[in-house]
Amino acid sequence: MSDSEASSFEKAIASFECMSFEGREYLRICSSNEVFQKKGKNVFFDEDVQIAIIRDGNELYAVSNICPHQYAAVICDGLIEEGTVTCPLHGWIYSLDSGKALGSNARLKTYHVFEWNDGIWLEKPVQLTPLWLRNF
Ligand code: FES
Repeated sequence: MSDSEASSFEKAIASFECMSFEGREYLRICSSNEVFQKKGKNVFFDEDVQIAIIRDGNELYAVSNICPHQYAAVICDGLIEEGTVTCPLHGWIYSLDSGKALGSNARLKTYHVFEWNDGIWLEKPVQLTPLWLRNF
C-alpha cells in the first residue's frame, strides 16, 4: 500500500512513536505535562476513533471521546469528579474505570494507558466500523 492509499486512521497511528510492552503495542501520544488535572485531552485518530485522556488525582484514564447517546465527540469536555465523567451535552455520567454509564447499559470503550519516561502511552487502538454501517 502506498502512502496515498493509507487511510487517515493508519496515518494517525503512524504519526506516533510505538513500543511493545507485555504483549501489547502502545503509542506515545503526548508528554505527561500535556494532560492536566480534571481536564480531558482528545486524541483524534478518525471520526470513529477519538480517545479522551483524563487525569483524575493519581489516576490516568483513556475512554472513547464519543458519547453513545448522540454519537457526539464531547467527552473530553465533560465534568470530571470522583472517578466519573459527565457528558457536557445531556449529563450522562460514565465511570472512568469501566466506561459504564451510571443507570443505563450505555458504555464508553476504555483503553489501557500509562505514564512512563515523561510520556503518556496509550494502547494502540483498532479502526472501528462506523456506527452508521454497523447494522448493515
Ligand atoms: S450526547 Fe452525551 S449525554 Fe447526550
